[in-house]
Amino acid sequence: MKLTGKNVLLTGAAGGIGARLAQELVRRGARVALVGRKANALAQLQARIADSGGEAVVVTADLSDTARLGEVVARCHDALGGIDLLINVAGQLSFRPFDEEDPAVLERIIRLNLVTPMLLTRALLPQLRERGGRIINIGSTFGAIGFAWFSAYSASKFGLRGFSEALRRELEGSGVGVSYIAPRAVRTPFNTGAIYRMAEAVGMHMDEPAWVVKQIVSAIERDTPEAHLGFPEKLFARINAVLPRLVDAALRKQNRAMEAFARGVDQE
Ligand SMILES: NC(=O)c1ccc[n+]([C@@H]2O[C@H](COP(=O)([O-])OP(=O)(O)OC[C@H]3O[C@@H](n4cnc5c(N)ncnc54)[C@H](OP(=O)(O)O)[C@@H]3O)[C@@H](O)[C@H]2O)c1
Repeated sequence: MKLTGKNVLLTGAAGGIGARLAQELVRRGARVALVGRKANALAQLQARIADSGGEAVVVTADLSDTARLGEVVARCHDALGGIDLLINVAGQLSFRPFDEEDPAVLERIIRLNLVTPMLLTRALLPQLRERGGRIINIGSTFGAIGFAWFSAYSASKFGLRGFSEALRRELEGSGVGVSYIAPRAVRTPFNTGAIYRMAEAVGMHMDEPAWVVKQIVSAIERDTPEAHLGFPEKLFARINAVLPRLVDAALRKQNRAMEAFARGVDQE
């Protein structure tokens, strides 16, 4: 999809990936509805975009409040006109043993990372059909390889990948495209101190957000249906799909090394 003149609804716009992505989209001639909870951070981003000669509007919303997503879509539409591109970036994660997971956190992760993108897509589909639009879902390596200590997050991203694949097949020939783009770990505030310490201890790769945004924009412009970012993760994602027991064995030692960080006892 060519981005010039396109209207974008971008969730997670104030985040490590979202803020850079917003600026890159505007640089390529798109107008962006910046959606998130933090009015100040979004207003500052909007001002930076205006200073660079671009156009963005701020729509504050808690996207885990699924009953109000229709209203969010209506506010974006009122501000920009018809939406050509929905980019689902907003997300949360939890890094802890599953039996210690707070049920409320578990539900919030599944809602925000999976149900919200599905409901936003559903609400926007009529205008996306009319305008030949696109849906871009930002997943994760953990949506192709289930990671110990990230059960709820992995489940949400597996769900998002399944939704993206099914909907892409369903919408084939309709003029609406669906892309699922899966970064590996990225250096943003998304990751807690325990995750950074764990990543260093087990040698987990961490990409810079600027590089990830470049890959996302390139996937949008090329209408790439599914992209797994970073090697060897993109290879492991394929191996896990056909030979998951091999990946069980390959991850066994790393899983045990991750445990102290997930339990919060690595510094004791
Ligand atoms: N960073 C990584 O290591 C990594 C790796 C793979 C995939 N990803 C995926 O990339 C996406 C963005 O991650 P990031 O690194 O940019 O994270 P981030 O810096 O923490 O940003 C997350 C964004 O989600 C928004 N958000 C969280 N809860 C929300 C809610 N209830 N309602 C509305 N917005 C909410 C936050 O906005 P407000 O706080 O302003 O509301 C924030 O802008 C996520 O989907 C994540 O799963 C990240």
